[in-house]
Amino acid sequence: MDWKKLYEKEDDETSPFYEPMVYTAKAMEHFRNPRNVGQVEKPDGKGVFGDPSCGDYIEVTIRVEEKGDRLQEVKFLVYGCAGAIATSSVMTELAIGKTLNEALSLADDDVIQALGGLPKKKQHCSLLGLQALQQAIGDYLFKRLLLREGIVKTEEDYEQLKAQHQFIFQPHSCDGSCEEGQP
Ligand code: FES
Repeated sequence: MDWKKLYEKEDDETSPFYEPMVYTAKAMEHFRNPRNVGQVEKPDGKGVFGDPSCGDYIEVTIRVEEKGDRLQEVKFLVYGCAGAIATSSVMTELAIGKTLNEALSLADDDVIQALGGLPKKKQHCSLLGLQALQQAIGDYLFKRLLLREGIVKTEEDYEQLKAQHQFIFQPHSCDGSCEEGQP
């Protein structure tokens, strides 16, 4: 092996490491017609997640059934690549109807499998929607706990607390704005 080739760009077609960027028909379909785009009205939970390596950013909002802890609605807004759009779209289909525990068990492989595969370079995109979904579920569970314990009296109190202590409620999030204006 010629080790110098390790440093070749992956989009160099003559490189032994070159992999063409081919999306499955299902991934293309989700990219062109993404499901559940938007925001749930008065959501029970909201999660945001940004990938600092590429600047892609997503918001997920959820509605949970009053009884049974099942996800009734899951919607997303994303600023990102084709992979981020397709994976977020299929993630909503996988999550709707699941209990919170089942939804928390979804893994990036489930998302990739549901699309029939993803180009290697795009596999990290499958995490974007899942991370935001997990944050949205965490937001909902934390709110429920604080309400039950009487630490907050109303959902509005909870939202105020969140606004005052953003770093507690959103421990890992990046909207890519730090990259703006960078070459
Ligand atoms: S390139 Fe970053 S999520 Fe797709």
